[in-house]
Amino acid sequence: MGAQKIIIDTDPGQDDAVAILLALASPVEIEVLGITAVAGNVPLSLTEKNARIVCELAGRPDIPVYAGCDRPLKRKLVTAEHVHGKTGLDGPELPEPKIKLQEKHGVDFIIDTILQEPKNTISLCPLGPLTNIASAILKQPKIVSRIKKIVLMGGAYFEVGNITPAAEFNIFVDPDAAKIVFEAGIDMVVMPLDVTHKALVTEKRNEAFRQLKSPVGIAVAEMTDFFERFDKEKYGSSAAPLHDPCVTAYLIDPKIFSGKNINVEIETKSELTLGMTVADWWGVTDRKANTFFVGDLDSDKFFSLLTERLGRLPI
Ligand code: BDR
Ligand code: CA
Repeated sequence: MGAQKIIIDTDPGQDDAVAILLALASPVEIEVLGITAVAGNVPLSLTEKNARIVCELAGRPDIPVYAGCDRPLKRKLVTAEHVHGKTGLDGPELPEPKIKLQEKHGVDFIIDTILQEPKNTISLCPLGPLTNIASAILKQPKIVSRIKKIVLMGGAYFEVGNITPAAEFNIFVDPDAAKIVFEAGIDMVVMPLDVTHKALVTEKRNEAFRQLKSPVGIAVAEMTDFFERFDKEKYGSSAAPLHDPCVTAYLIDPKIFSGKNINVEIETKSELTLGMTVADWWGVTDRKANTFFVGDLDSDKFFSLLTERLGRLPI
């Protein structure tokens, strides 16, 4: 089997950065055709720049980076500088990127790539709000039947919410986009907080990144030091979750993860529970399953894969 062709849709974000690095460190399993940035953790002007910084850090200036949507479909943008810092990538000192931003809009890159490549060969990996993906579906519905699968980070069931008591950040920021994506009928794998809250970066695990003694290993350790302080305070724990790399790790070794095929619906109307992923984990409705909803992972395997792969960069 050749490498899986993917487009990473992202709002970096330190954990997005680690997810991208993991993909770029794994060319046997993953071929990154391009990265599309979306507004989320910080505004678009920063997420697209951060995506370029990360490609350079990985030694992959050849990866094309596109700017996508700068705001959710119908709502005002909510950002998360309180978690990720002012730049979105606070922590390490990283140079200004030399890579140029591509001229094409990210949504058009998604559409054109899916139409050009053979049917069922392209997977999408959204790591932020789903605005770009939903916009692509709205603009060119023909792509729906051509997408191989979507593996995304978003939502929660047992862990409920992190940005509101009921909603996870990525889904909350653009619930209207999430509804379109979840209802499109595309094969979907979802990494909710239920699993990412078990991917905990302990001090020992972060030290393993630092001990790689490479620019990538040190930068990842510093990114993690920075953005995890928020979750450690919030959850009162000594380790904090690393969300987005669960998506790229799944592509490399799905056996690390376990979950169930279930129905998930997105709340778009209620003020109190806006952006909630209403997950029928126990099968109490007859609503058709539309996602493989991941609930658990082997965290030791996950972190040893991550550390070993980061150690390969730059390739
Ligand atoms: C998600 O929100 C962002 O802050 C992270 O990058 C991750 O994608 C976790 O809720
Ligand atoms: Ca993200």
